[in-house]
Amino acid sequence: MQTLADKRILLGISGGIAAYKSADLVRRLTERGADVRVILTSAAQEFITPLTLQAVSGNPVSHSLLDPAAEAAMGHIELAKWADLILIAPASADVIARLAHGLANDLLTTCVLASSAPVAVAPAMNQQMYKNIATQKNLATLKEHNFHIFGPGVGAQACGDTGAGRMLEPLELVALTEQLFSPVKNLQGLRITITAGPTREAIDPVRYISNHSSGKMGFALAQAAAAMGAEVTLISGPVQLATPAGVTRIDVQSAEQMHQAALSAAVQSDIFIGCAAVADYRVAEIAADKLKKGAEAEMQLTLVKNPDIIAAVAALPQQRPFTVGFAAETRNVLEYARQKLLNKRLDMICANDVSASDRGFNSDDNALSVIWRGGELDLPKAPKQQLATQLITLISEHYKN
Ligand code: CTP
Repeated sequence: MQTLADKRILLGISGGIAAYKSADLVRRLTERGADVRVILTSAAQEFITPLTLQAVSGNPVSHSLLDPAAEAAMGHIELAKWADLILIAPASADVIARLAHGLANDLLTTCVLASSAPVAVAPAMNQQMYKNIATQKNLATLKEHNFHIFGPGVGAQACGDTGAGRMLEPLELVALTEQLFSPVKNLQGLRITITAGPTREAIDPVRYISNHSSGKMGFALAQAAAAMGAEVTLISGPVQLATPAGVTRIDVQSAEQMHQAALSAAVQSDIFIGCAAVADYRVAEIAADKLKKGAEAEMQLTLVKNPDIIAAVAALPQQRPFTVGFAAETRNVLEYARQKLLNKRLDMICANDVSASDRGFNSDDNALSVIWRGGELDLPKAPKQQLATQLITLISEHYKN
């Protein structure tokens, strides 16, 4: 679909290994109708060539502020005025620092200063560089200056580290760009509470029981709902994700803590979405000291059932929100989901198959079957951000009806 028809996007590419994905990003943007012009910083040219980007964008690529021929064709001020959006992907720690300080020491930073268009940056760097207080302060400055920050993603990095700092995938960047151009603010006034991530059930001071949930789906839902104007409370178990803009976040560890936080938020919400992978059981008695290994070949832990958070929300006698659950299954996906819809008295349930490694838990993509009393809809495999927007739209339509 031509979701970006006639949108003029100035794509700034700075130096980082993620620059190899920029050619794909240009393709995805142009496929959706955008007119893309590319500026490369000098470091970016070490990772990707102007020729590649010229071929995929169909436009000449700019890289020098002081190139008389380029200035005669489309000068930096013209480029800055031409853009409906400046998207910088990947945005290195260096370019983020220069933008935060208003430097204009190359073509890209000069264009940003000279443009009144919105600017979005997709950070891409080593996890330690991302965590560094200097980078965090620079990003906070950019947010204050109304820059949009896309990502970063979390996961394995080219340098061998793992953590936050990966550039979002091209399709995720496209979804965020689409949202930016058509912010459907039709959820204004709606209060939505979302639970996300795993819970952690302590065994002793150093050990716990948990699961592989990354929290990405819940965070994507929170971001989509906030972008559509809703007032969002995100109750999150331990995850490595940045809080989406405009979202109120409550961090919890255990299912009992999540239960408490969820019930007090739910009675003040119009919609409650239980996306968290809540541990069904906790250890009956948490040991005060680290458990020591005994001589026996086996050890036994006594587990007791945790409260079912979403069932408790759906059973609220008053101020019950429209309640949406998730069902992560490895087999009989639809059947189990339908049972959960009924047993937990939910209004809607989103079933996903977590047996496939290319979607669901810990993946950037997901596919969902959404079931409610009287209907079903399949949302095919897509980046979680894109799926989140579709799902929030569907939920809000059902809430309103
Ligand atoms: N859920 C919850 N509290 C729990 C367990 C689950 O709120 N203690 C919610 C989840 O957030 C999700 C839905 O219930 O929205 C289904 O979670 P799931 O783990 O698939 O189902 P369970 O009820 O735990 O059943 P089972 O593990 O046997 O599949």
